[in-house]
Amino acid sequence: MEPIIELKNLSVDFRTNSGTLRAVDNVTMDIYRGEIVGIIGESGSGKTTLISSILRTIRAPGRIAEGEVIYHCKDGTTVDLLKLSEKDYNSYRWTEITTVFQAAQNVLNPTLRIKEHFLETAMAHNSKLTKREILDKAKELCAKVRLEERVLDSYPHQLSGGMKQRVIIALSLLLEPELLILDEPTTALDVITQWYILDILRKIHEESGITMVFCTHDVAIIGSVVDRIAVMYAGQIVEYGKLEDVFLRPAHPYSRGLIRAVPSLRDDISKRAAIPGYPPNLLDLAPGCRFAPRCFLKEQGICDGITGNLEKMVSLGDNQQYTLCGHWKEVKRLATTD
Ligand SMILES: Nc1ncnc2c1ncn2[C@@H]1O[C@H](COP(=O)(O)OP(=O)(O)OP(=O)(O)O)[C@@H](O)[C@H]1O
Ligand SMILES: [Mg+2]
Repeated sequence: MEPIIELKNLSVDFRTNSGTLRAVDNVTMDIYRGEIVGIIGESGSGKTTLISSILRTIRAPGRIAEGEVIYHCKDGTTVDLLKLSEKDYNSYRWTEITTVFQAAQNVLNPTLRIKEHFLETAMAHNSKLTKREILDKAKELCAKVRLEERVLDSYPHQLSGGMKQRVIIALSLLLEPELLILDEPTTALDVITQWYILDILRKIHEESGITMVFCTHDVAIIGSVVDRIAVMYAGQIVEYGKLEDVFLRPAHPYSRGLIRAVPSLRDDISKRAAIPGYPPNLLDLAPGCRFAPRCFLKEQGICDGITGNLEKMVSLGDNQQYTLCGHWKEVKRLATTD
């Protein structure tokens, strides 16, 4: 498997009145070309900050403290996106890397018809296509996101939230990017519309093989779309692996807790349990494992919160599952009895 993105020791800081907090802490992970990677974690765990570093949308008071974001171009060359000038990075926006985020529909210009959004986007990125070709492409993309052609003549306010989000997805694909980053793309929508859009995204991926990174705090949703999943907690990736491994054989107590809390994934209601407590204050982190105050291993005296805290994720063998918990064998053993 060829990577399309390699995140290397990536850290992002935010300066606040009470001090500097590290919202993304030393994240290293590969995203392979053609796969769908999910990033899950509670609110504030750092998902948006992490993908914003790939998109280069971190703004003050935030800054990338260290690390690299290596992008692998199709021709085999690589580039550290963080080292590019703004102008050079712009040549990657839309054409290589694009994004759809929560309530992205609000970015549609109310005074422009949908087709004008397609024309403007293509022209803003020096597309070589003629107006006719852009509109043909827009029609084709509308069909892909299951919108009728007449939508192109509508103004944004004439469309529902779900339709607008589909317009944004179509628009994001206009310049045939290699990587689509989705940040809570369905969170603002009702459940039926959510599933409908996920189905569309799955089909688009099947047909084009585009790489997708999908951030959400909704574990139930993500399980239906992704190949691999990264679990974030308090700025760190605590586990990363194939969906079935992380869901069925989690190797970090936090992943286990997240999955056990999802009603639709478990038959026995009595075994569902919310994770006790709250994530730590990033401005006031205790030494050792960040999850320890909420962890059953600590509660049961299996871990003291220090010994099980690995410096960096370890690989659990050749199945590409990685964890930050030194007691992963115990966690996996328990998962078989969950
Ligand atoms: N502009 C900012 N100034 C200060 N702190 C920030 C800023 N933006 C984010 N943070 C902090 O960075 C951390 C990570 O936030 P982020 O938005 O990346 O989390 P998230 O996982 O995307 O959450 P959600 O599920 O709510 O979208 C949080 O602790 C947050 O308080
Ligand atoms: Mg977010």
